[in-house]
Amino acid sequence: MPDKTSKVDMDKIVSLCKRRGFIFPSSEIYGGLGSCWDYGPLGVELKKNIKDAWWRAVVRERDDMVGIDASIMMHPQTWIASGHVEGFSDPLVECKACHLRWRATDFDRGSCPDCGGELTEPKLFNLMFKTFMGPVEDEASVVYLRPETAQGIFVNFDNVLATSRKKLPFGIAQIGKSFRNEITTGNFIFRTREFEQMEIEYFVKPGSDEEWFNYWVKERFSWYLKLGIKEESLHLRRHGNEELAHYAKDCYDIEYLFPMGWAELEGIANRGDYDLVQHAKHSGKALSYFDEETGERYTPYVIEPSAGVDRSALAFLINAYDEELAEGETRVVLHFNPELAPIKVAILPLSRNEKLAPLARDVYTKIRRYFMTQYDDAQSIGRRYRRQDEIGTPFCVTIDFQSLEDNQATIRERDSMAQIRLPIDDLVKTLQAKLSGESFASQPLWTTKTAEASE
Ligand code: GAP
Repeated sequence: MPDKTSKVDMDKIVSLCKRRGFIFPSSEIYGGLGSCWDYGPLGVELKKNIKDAWWRAVVRERDDMVGIDASIMMHPQTWIASGHVEGFSDPLVECKACHLRWRATDFDRGSCPDCGGELTEPKLFNLMFKTFMGPVEDEASVVYLRPETAQGIFVNFDNVLATSRKKLPFGIAQIGKSFRNEITTGNFIFRTREFEQMEIEYFVKPGSDEEWFNYWVKERFSWYLKLGIKEESLHLRRHGNEELAHYAKDCYDIEYLFPMGWAELEGIANRGDYDLVQHAKHSGKALSYFDEETGERYTPYVIEPSAGVDRSALAFLINAYDEELAEGETRVVLHFNPELAPIKVAILPLSRNEKLAPLARDVYTKIRRYFMTQYDDAQSIGRRYRRQDEIGTPFCVTIDFQSLEDNQATIRERDSMAQIRLPIDDLVKTLQAKLSGESFASQPLWTTKTAEASE
């Protein structure tokens, strides 16, 4: 196993993301747009894998959950009922000298963090983005870009209940973009103005809400651990009363140890019956549940685990990053859980020799039907291994001259850099087993001949 050398900082992650095609500054050719980022070919795969892992865990593998995909723009009354028009604000202060604006809660000094100038008194600033629907730009046509996906779930409570015929307790999950006109952004994709959320609204009988609240806190915490987040980098923090959102009875944050310190990855809130009661009041529609067992009608309470896709992507990148001393040089490696790795398998002909290409291409065509696969024949095999390590590819399959004679290939594992040789016909089933967590060393096909040795 390689030796560990150093710890990660944010600049290294930003630079790797740009260099390898995970994340680019938005509209970079025009100088970029503050706090907006574009996911490149590898970033989009990573994000998709995170969302798929979440969807599988909270929808597909459960009987008590269904999904929806609501629209981003909703009836403006939604945001009056939910309390966002009135209360979704941050205190903003402005520097009287340089006119930079700051979120007052971001620091406790009374002067401008940039130039030391005197600050104005805090003013409340609503974080919702406003736009106009249709050709007339007047007050009547104002709509908001949703600041959370949650409200799309609450307003569909009755539709989903009636069509899915679920009984309490049950939940609705949704993944989608949210927008907040944050006063201060930063730390790469940690706080941006456009981001993606993965939210669950889990409806329960009042009185059972604390039990379900504790259940979801544990469930969500263990999801990150199962996907490889190190235990020492994850903790729970309960909100104090003064910190609770306007709708919350109780809330835990799952916090990750980012390079800038502990910060929220996901919040799990007990929203009580706040949202359904508010929407019932403002819409005039009953949003309640008839309990056939007890013959009672009541408004369910709601437990809300709410995670950020972008923050999760950042945490998984930081968690996976390592610099190791291997074979006398430093290699950068992303130790992603295979489920999250953007590329699962790389097919590498030992060289660009034209004799190797047909077999290597043939193997690539077969393998790519099963796993996200990349074909790479540029530069030396050693450099290609390093490149795949740096993007977190769990397995490299090398086709060498011996392969033309014995129809065998070499698999190299990213973390241990160990290699095994096996028949090409066994590649798919072996890779399937290894990607699902089977130990690499347990593979009975060890041989002393390796791709690097035969280079
Ligand atoms: N519906 C509840 C809700 O939206 P939140 O704590 O405001 O709660 C939930 O947001 C999650 O959404 C956060 O834990 C974070 O992962 C993500 N998130 C919130 N604001 C964000 C921002 N400006 N940039 C990136 N992610 C953000």
